[in-house]
Amino acid sequence: MQAGARAMAAHRARALTAIAGREPYFGQGVALYVQDVSVSFDGFKALNALTLTIAVGELRCIIGPNGAGKTTMMDCITGKTRPDSGRLFFGSNIDLLRLTEPEIAQIGVGRKFQKPTVYEQLSVFENLELALKADRGVRAALFHRLSDAQRGRIDEVLALIHLQHEAQRTAGLLSHGQKQWLEIGMLLMQDPKLLLLDEPVAGMTDEETERTAELFLSLEGRHSLVVVEHDMKFVEQLTQGRKRVTVLHEGGVLAEGLLSEVQANEKVVEVYLGR
Ligand SMILES: Nc1ncnc2c1ncn2[C@@H]1O[C@H](COP(=O)(O)OP(=O)(O)OP(=O)(O)O)[C@@H](O)[C@H]1O
Ligand SMILES: [Mg+2]
Repeated sequence: MQAGARAMAAHRARALTAIAGREPYFGQGVALYVQDVSVSFDGFKALNALTLTIAVGELRCIIGPNGAGKTTMMDCITGKTRPDSGRLFFGSNIDLLRLTEPEIAQIGVGRKFQKPTVYEQLSVFENLELALKADRGVRAALFHRLSDAQRGRIDEVLALIHLQHEAQRTAGLLSHGQKQWLEIGMLLMQDPKLLLLDEPVAGMTDEETERTAELFLSLEGRHSLVVVEHDMKFVEQLTQGRKRVTVLHEGGVLAEGLLSEVQANEKVVEVYLGR
């Protein structure tokens, strides 16, 4: 049993070294390539030959009715769910189907779930510090001294997420929206190339929602972002009348185009917007 655990740990260490030396290649302009991905749950097709490409630095909004497969798509990209068939590439060279969930996170794919998961008892600053040194244990990380560059990066992220005046505040005392921003900040500490955000503004006030849109717009370019949302005002703010959105329905792409175009699309109105 112990030997088995040691062998597993050794295997894991070797695998991590292998991917550490294998950087995703973005030279062809593709951040994420989803090709013909299908997943069934008890015979029900949650994803049905889904095909989608996200460009480097792109901010793509994905909309669609409940049960369309939006969250399942993120589960497949992050390795939480294994597709029955299809291909998933990060950059043009990393086959995500060959990596485990932690390896996918380590290679530069960050994911934000709907419910914020911050360390409530720690300060905002300490949460970011921990995220920066996620490879150490909590105690070891907090006792480990920060370099000037690391401190600088935390200050930069604090400014991005509008929490520079709350740095010493206990995270548990933040508003719901601020906790969401802190969690996004924690993801940013790892400098992910691709960020997946599932309903990031659910439960936020209008003002928090607007600020979140500003935050995402400021991340566009440096990161690729895939944002799933039902809040159309938010999607409108993110797309600025010029970005493409994707409409998912029954596990596939129903329509893709400018928000104004998909809003005028009869099929889209029928299954989603006209409700
Ligand atoms: N682990 C699972 N086991 C069984 N069925 C699942 C599982 N995960 C998802 N499903 C089903 O797959 C379909 C797609 O679900 P998914 O959560 O991806 O939809 P969604 O587009 O994110 O919807 P929403 O807008 O409500 O969040 C749904 O019918 C759901 O019930
Ligand atoms: Mg969902």
